[in-house]
Amino acid sequence: MRLGRTNLLRVGAVILSIALLPAFAQFNPQPKPTGPWMNASLSPDERADLVMKQMTLDEKIRLLHGTGMFGLSPMSPGYEASNGGAGYVIGIPRLGIPAIQMSDAAYGVRSSGQNGRYSTALPNNLASAASWDLKAAYQYGALIGQELRAQGYNMSLGGGVNLTREPRNGRNFEYLGEDPILAGKLVGQVMTGLQAQHVLGDIKHYALNDQESGRNSVNVNIDKRAMRETDLLAFEIGIHDADPAGVMCSYNRVNGDYACENKYLLTDVLKKDWKFKGFVLSDWGATHSVAKASAAGLDHEEPGEIFYGEPMKKAVESGKVPMSELNDHVHRILRAMFATGVIDDPPQKSVVDVVHGFEVSQKIAEQSMVLLRNENSQLPLDASRVQTIAVIGAHSDVGMLSGGGSAQVDPPGGNAIMPPGKGATRWQEHIWFPTSPLKTIQAKAAKAKVEYDAGTDLDSAAALAKNADVAIVFASQWVSEGMDLPSLTLPDNQDALIAKVAAANPHTIVVLETGDPVTMPWVNDVSAILEAWYPGSRGADALANVLFGDVNPSAKLPITFPKSEADLPHLKIVTPPPASMPKFGPNTWKQIAAGLPAFQTTYDEGLKVGYKWYDAEHKAVLFPFGYGLSYTTYSYSNFKVEPGSDVHVSFTVANTGNRAGAEIAEVYAALPAGTGEPPKRLVGWSKVELNPGESKDVTVQVEPKYLSIFNVEKDAWQRVPGEYTFMAGPSSQTLPLKDSVNLQ
Ligand code: BGC
Repeated sequence: MRLGRTNLLRVGAVILSIALLPAFAQFNPQPKPTGPWMNASLSPDERADLVMKQMTLDEKIRLLHGTGMFGLSPMSPGYEASNGGAGYVIGIPRLGIPAIQMSDAAYGVRSSGQNGRYSTALPNNLASAASWDLKAAYQYGALIGQELRAQGYNMSLGGGVNLTREPRNGRNFEYLGEDPILAGKLVGQVMTGLQAQHVLGDIKHYALNDQESGRNSVNVNIDKRAMRETDLLAFEIGIHDADPAGVMCSYNRVNGDYACENKYLLTDVLKKDWKFKGFVLSDWGATHSVAKASAAGLDHEEPGEIFYGEPMKKAVESGKVPMSELNDHVHRILRAMFATGVIDDPPQKSVVDVVHGFEVSQKIAEQSMVLLRNENSQLPLDASRVQTIAVIGAHSDVGMLSGGGSAQVDPPGGNAIMPPGKGATRWQEHIWFPTSPLKTIQAKAAKAKVEYDAGTDLDSAAALAKNADVAIVFASQWVSEGMDLPSLTLPDNQDALIAKVAAANPHTIVVLETGDPVTMPWVNDVSAILEAWYPGSRGADALANVLFGDVNPSAKLPITFPKSEADLPHLKIVTPPPASMPKFGPNTWKQIAAGLPAFQTTYDEGLKVGYKWYDAEHKAVLFPFGYGLSYTTYSYSNFKVEPGSDVHVSFTVANTGNRAGAEIAEVYAALPAGTGEPPKRLVGWSKVELNPGESKDVTVQVEPKYLSIFNVEKDAWQRVPGEYTFMAGPSSQTLPLKDSVNLQ
């Protein structure tokens, strides 16, 4: 029999595939799972119990730690199978338990560049909080979950929800603002959207990691009531709403103990009071002991096995760590894996859906940009009338800024301000995404002359501005993990640039790309200010849509912009004395693991975080929490407060302008005198979409906890009987509706 050419090729392919079978098997290391724990109709707890009965001590220990990170700890043999993310936990193939492949994923999947992949950058987390939009938060998490799966990950390290207690904190851009209810509700939706994609989610950094300076040695002193009602409340709400797989404990100490061996935080509050069912994993290098950490409630060490590898095994064998405690750690990890579906529906690598990512990212960016000032309706620009536009500063010809550290997403093609091929993302480099405002502005105003000036030479920038109909100045403030800002002043002489351009052109619009608030000595000299944050992969498209009115801005500030640093609760961030810093070198991580000498900071502003501080201290601010303008106007009327266990607050919002828009209507409450609370707190909100002339009745249901205080003696939340004043309106400082009721 003669074989034709096609058949020969077929036979060849079959022989080749047989020869390559072992190699393919290596790339698909999970055998088809069997065993009663694979019965998806059982509960995640039952399934975890069943599989644990089959596990050896070594297999149990294997789930309790990562496998290393360069320079940090011994690499386990299985490390090579890591997908290239920040964490890798070896699975138990014989039982069908997959490896846990963790990737940082705050505003998109990290390290995709170095792994030869692509990820979408969403607007940074603080930006997304400015949308106050729970549906957008769900989509935010869902997109990250989808892209994690496409890249072969089954766990996200995102969900940062530390409160903006310190506005100069370098990581605020990764968090969700200064209010615990807003931040908690949003992170709950981000996690729900993410875990719906069958990806393990985590919420971090638990707790009070509110400054980066000396984060490995600082001891945060704060009283229990203050922590429960502020930072911890954000975690409590998020965990309640999302049942996340993981909670990452933070680097710092809290009231004496490291967060990752803090029994009060991990066991008393998180696991007992909040009934958290998932597992606690340490921040990278934040584990400091075996028995103490284990007894306190730490379930899993990352990224290595300094404590939870061999030393944990010995501790269990010698009885220092009871078997029941070890089993609880293991059970929590397995339960989370069954509950989120990573065992029943493991990720399949595929090409990231770039187009979908762009759409979601742009939509959220459009809902996140906050219009802070708009004198004489400077905005929106009329594309048919404007003839010359000067675009100035902040590399706005080629890109828009992103936030750094472990949250960093890699831009396609590399850093937009570097020559092609030279822009690899490096730790703490300022990374600009290739989304060019100059181009999108020019595309909108097709007939106008749009010219760019880098803004480095003030005279040249002013000269360009002088001859233009409008000048759009871009100003940026870069922030990152591992640093705090020295001040809230825009760096690199940008205040002088804005002042000079504003003096040259009465139609000056400032676009801010910042991760923290900034001070604005020129605020009254410009005609419009738009806070665009770090707007992600499609930032410039979203921006142009807002500038030209295709999108009516609706976002509101999730943080206060103070007038000056002199108004902050702490004039300076307490920084670590040199003795408490690790010596840099190959043993840095060992020193950190052994524990660095503590230095103290005291968060004595206590309950007064963010707007609550400025309210209580009667300090005028630049732009208040909850503030943001629109191209239309709204009115509020018909206030009604119905007391009960849940209080119902109703009112009417009307669109009194001539553009469709979405108004974020905010509800605040003042607690009875004598409770020792700040003047008011946000207790709910509603985002109301309204056509011109339309009005809608809104009801906001206020949960009892949002009207309660934490009673330390009773160790419980308590609604204090007395007079409660409810207020509603467009910002924390403009509350036209007000009524008081007595509540029991
Ligand atoms: C950060 C975490 C991050 C981890 C892994 C740590 O330095 O604090 O937020 O998830 O590294 O990259």
